[in-house]
Amino acid sequence: ARLLAAGRDLAGLRIAVSAGGTREPIDPVRFIGNRSSGRQGIAVALAAAERGADVTLVAAHIDGAVLADVRGRARIRLEHAGTASELGERMTALAQESDVVIMTAAVADYRVARVSDHKLTKDDGAPRIELVENADILAGLAAGRRSGQTIVGFAAEMPTDDESVIERGIRKRRRKGADLLAVNEVGWQAGFERADNTVSIIGPDDAVVATVSGSKREVADALLDAVLAARAS
Ligand code: CTP
Ligand code: CA
Repeated sequence: ARLLAAGRDLAGLRIAVSAGGTREPIDPVRFIGNRSSGRQGIAVALAAAERGADVTLVAAHIDGAVLADVRGRARIRLEHAGTASELGERMTALAQESDVVIMTAAVADYRVARVSDHKLTKDDGAPRIELVENADILAGLAAGRRSGQTIVGFAAEMPTDDESVIERGIRKRRRKGADLLAVNEVGWQAGFERADNTVSIIGPDDAVVATVSGSKREVADALLDAVLAARAS
């Protein structure tokens, strides 16, 4: 019904989407990772392509079975990135030729300061892993925003004693300088590896421009609606 109503309302838009989770190597066989499945980013890429956009999806460690949904799809070009630094390079390059950039990927906040050139063994003793902070890709994209470009982030948040998930999202959108930030409440059970989501989309002026509860595809369509609305205003 949505497709019939909307038609190809994103035709002509070039959209870069990052999805999945980066991995930061410890040694040749070990890494620091996270539990992002990549499904939300894939849903955004599929929805955007079906609505007529030209999509480049940069996938970070997404399961082959999950990626199968996008392989061979019209208007979706698939690329891969492993680490936060690789993802940053790809997204920064793609931003030069994109009208919209959507960062759904879970980017590792830290990388290992000194990656071992050999597989660590117990003979090496318990590793003391020093971490250094990775660059903030989204903030960098927002700072380098070209005129007319829309920069979108995603945040998985847990409420704290003194801040709601929305309040945290408002602060985070400002800090990053993104046009839109989709905020998803998570806990140990909620959010990860589930088909459904509740997401609030925070826009400029700290307004919640949409709240959507449903499948990742419904969240994706609501986010793309918010992108269109932001570009029209
Ligand atoms: N992000 C990014 N580069 C990073 C970290 C995060 O581009 N180094 C992006 C994510 O892709 C996402 C958004 O920023 O779109 C929010 O990610 P999040 O991890 O919530 O933000 P952080 O600034 O890392 O905040 P926190 O301390 O809560 O992890
Ligand atoms: Ca983070």
